[in-house]
Amino acid sequence: MYAIESINLRKIYRTRKRRGLLRSKPEVVEALRGVSFSVRHGEVVGLLGPNGAGKTTTIKIVSTLLLPDGGEVYVEGFNVVSEATEVRKRIGLLLTVERGFYGKLTGWENLEYFGVLYDMNRRDLEARLDYLFKLLELDRLGGVDRLFEEFSLGMKARLGLARALLKDPPILLLDEPTLGLDPPSAVKIRSLVRDLAKEGKAILYTTHNMFEAEMVCDRILFIDRGLIVAEGSPSDLKDRIPKLRSLKITVKGDDPSPILSDRSLEHRVNRVDTDLFELDIKTNDPIEALNSILPLLTVRGYRIISFKIEEPSLEDVFLYFSRRAC
Ligand SMILES: Nc1ncnc2c1ncn2[C@@H]1O[C@H](COP(=O)(O)OP(=O)(O)OP(=O)(O)O)[C@@H](O)[C@H]1O
Ligand SMILES: [Mg+2]
Repeated sequence: MYAIESINLRKIYRTRKRRGLLRSKPEVVEALRGVSFSVRHGEVVGLLGPNGAGKTTTIKIVSTLLLPDGGEVYVEGFNVVSEATEVRKRIGLLLTVERGFYGKLTGWENLEYFGVLYDMNRRDLEARLDYLFKLLELDRLGGVDRLFEEFSLGMKARLGLARALLKDPPILLLDEPTLGLDPPSAVKIRSLVRDLAKEGKAILYTTHNMFEAEMVCDRILFIDRGLIVAEGSPSDLKDRIPKLRSLKITVKGDDPSPILSDRSLEHRVNRVDTDLFELDIKTNDPIEALNSILPLLTVRGYRIISFKIEEPSLEDVFLYFSRRAC
């Protein structure tokens, strides 16, 4: 049985678009247009895509916060619409915008409050809080007795994750858990997510950070305008795009665009400074390209500041698949 199974999921938002001060007109947004995927226990699945692609909408439907308009979603075999209570028992949710914490309560008191709300018994709750505050280093950061309103963003994110883990649920839905965090907090959360997957938890994870997705996710779903446009492990996905590498040469001098436009190379010229330009050339033979371009540049008096060859990144994969979906 899958931990999460989504079959042809659809969601339409019906809103009104402001037109002037008093007028508005109805607007229909097709946020999800038939999204199917599954997540197994012990697996981190990344849901990646541009702003407005439908990631948060998907997470909200899986977590029973939002009703779908079509299709079905099952959490450990339970339907998110007709068996929402069973679903809620099995999931831990972290949404980007952390709401529901009380500013005038300490970190500890906030989680105590949720534990009571979840009907956890006192002794289990104390032990669990002890464990989670240590695990997320909230004790070391002063999260036990500081008021929530005084928390830094990193502490708030950690407390959000602690709340998602409170009932030790088998399924975690994490919407941009590292957004805005400093490197130590982000590293902590990523390694924790990997450990949780090792314990057998199923994790649906969204991020805009491709480097992070590559480190954390076993599998990635690229979603664009409500449709999944590509799916696979980070390395599978990179193998599926044309083997174009990026040759980046930084030169000092005038704009070198005219030199490159004579040649049939896919390229971009970025101005880094007044007389500093970065040439970004897409090619499947970067050494050959380097050998043909360097003499042209040096003979015209350009000074080469640096060069590097980059393998395709997840970002290239995403751009490739979203362009094809247009
Ligand atoms: N409550 C709402 N009412 C109307 N439209 C909405 C609502 N929530 C989301 N949308 C629209 O649905 C689409 C999908 O939004 P969603 O928040 O799921 O995207 P996302 O992939 O999470 O984006 P981001 O990366 O910016 O978080 C967008 O076009 C968005 O404007
Ligand atoms: Mg979102």
